[in-house]
Amino acid sequence: MTKTEQNLLEAFAGESQANRKYLAFAKQAEKEGYPQAAKLFRAAAEAETVHALAHLVALGYVKSTAENLREAISGETHEFRNMYPAMIEAAKAEKNKAAQRSFSYANEVEKVHASLYQKVLDNLEALEDADYYVCSVCGYTCEEKPPDRCPVCGSGSKAFLKVD
Ligand code: FE2
Ligand code: FE2
Ligand code: FE2
Repeated sequence: MTKTEQNLLEAFAGESQANRKYLAFAKQAEKEGYPQAAKLFRAAAEAETVHALAHLVALGYVKSTAENLREAISGETHEFRNMYPAMIEAAKAEKNKAAQRSFSYANEVEKVHASLYQKVLDNLEALEDADYYVCSVCGYTCEEKPPDRCPVCGSGSKAFLKVD
């Protein structure tokens, strides 16, 4: 990997993190009653996304959809097979309950992502229209309609957001 490719990768990670961090800060600003600060956080978050995506494209990491689906499946699988199980163990050992919960939620949901991606990859040329819903508490993702109770975190169907 060249120095510039390494830099693109590092900048992609940083810009991606800035995007999510600013969205979290925007939520907090709304909660504290500072809508203008919230708006600026959202504007900058949007700009960081522009930067992140441009870095990723410059790296040549955006390929055909079939290749991207395979890449997504491999990333999700790594997360639920290796990354999160080790992180959950370490969080348990350190008695960090909040981390244990957020790692466990993510771990369960990545399994679902891998299988949803696989299903789309397997049927790429004959895909039927289906809606997706995401649990706003744990990220559980499902097709068609939200369940009465989230199978991962137990939230009611009102916690689910429809994805356009
Ligand atoms: Fe940026
Ligand atoms: Fe995922
Ligand atoms: Fe959930």
